[in-house]
Amino acid sequence: MTDAPIDAITAREILDNRLEPTLRVTVETPAGTGRADVPRGRSRGAYEAYDRRDGDDRYRGLGVRDAVSAVEDRIAPELRGRDVTDQRDVDAALVALDGTDTKENLGGNAVVGVSLAVLRAGAAATGLPLYRYVGGADAHVIPLPFFDLIEGGELAGGDRPFQEHQVVPVGADSVAEAVRWTAEVYYELGDILRSEYGAASCNVGDEGGYTPLGVDDPREAFELECRAIEACGYDGEFALAADVAASHFYDPETETYDLCGEAMTRADLVAFYENLVDTYPIVSLEDPLDQADFAGVADLTDRLDVQIVGDDLFATTPDRLRTGIDHGAGTALLWKINQVGTVTEATEAARLATRNGYAVQVSERSGQTPDTWLADLAVGLGAGQIKTGVTRGERTEQYNRLLEIEADLDGVATFGPPGDALDR
Ligand code: PGA
Ligand code: ZN
Repeated sequence: MTDAPIDAITAREILDNRLEPTLRVTVETPAGTGRADVPRGRSRGAYEAYDRRDGDDRYRGLGVRDAVSAVEDRIAPELRGRDVTDQRDVDAALVALDGTDTKENLGGNAVVGVSLAVLRAGAAATGLPLYRYVGGADAHVIPLPFFDLIEGGELAGGDRPFQEHQVVPVGADSVAEAVRWTAEVYYELGDILRSEYGAASCNVGDEGGYTPLGVDDPREAFELECRAIEACGYDGEFALAADVAASHFYDPETETYDLCGEAMTRADLVAFYENLVDTYPIVSLEDPLDQADFAGVADLTDRLDVQIVGDDLFATTPDRLRTGIDHGAGTALLWKINQVGTVTEATEAARLATRNGYAVQVSERSGQTPDTWLADLAVGLGAGQIKTGVTRGERTEQYNRLLEIEADLDGVATFGPPGDALDR
């Protein structure tokens, strides 16, 4: 406890990396001020907290003036005077004031902005860096990044079904080494794409990964990544991974997946994955099946000896994760705080995951700003894994912040996931 009652909470409409409106929330206390920008997904899952938009003429309906009013006129009076370091009390008040499962009343974007700005103000009031405020004296785990070098799905033009074809520098000893190796592979991949597919193939998607024209088969994307890794002399130091985001090419009517020109049944797709992990050094697959298919994901988890990450499947929601655990679906939780709305609920989901032997991968959204609370939270949670795109300022700032934290923790930091999450 500190002498830091919340004095004022304000919000403004700002722009994210897609030039789309989002919120910046500021929380003031006599002992320190906190500010946080709100991220927004494009490939959002069906079970996420409600994203409140004005729906009027401004910004094609995407304005967030109503969410700003929710912060200033409804949330601020409720929270004024509360101790800013009592995060659980603040978040419980937010959940109670909203009163719905998916934050439909206030808006998930309003709620998450306040919850994060309160967290930041708490760190400021106690004089601690955010990662240490969240993780305590023991915070020391720098996360291993999953770099999205080739993008598809909802995040890029073209017909690539898989949303992210990631490279994972599993052999690196530090985030500094991981970032440098990956940058070299990224340049090399750019050279290959430019010479074989034309300069336009080096255009990037929402998370800064390449969007090569004509590379529509996931196997070709992985092949290209392997070639770039080998050309740099890093064979064996990198593994591969994917966010399949399979709900986006699933047709619930016919119960088939539209992949590589075929209407695949679940069994076909499972066979496709078995072949994929036999052929390439894949260690992790995110959302490999439809977001409602707990039984299917459980079956796949049994069959494949790789990490199976639930993003849209769990929506960072303790209840959905509990259902997944009961089914034996997945081995890792993708952790996106705005899917659920408050720091406390998201932390509860992470704790539930860890207690049940699930790994936690902290994640960006495709829409965000250069605000770096994500990097700090990844270290604070001790998650050991992060995905935050590859290029563009709002992604590289996360890496820059991880480099800074790693330097701060010189001599005591460890790098990557604890345990054997990536080699089951
Ligand atoms: P989103 O996509 O942020 O647009 O939802 C990222 C992901 O699916 O992991
Ligand atoms: Zn995803």
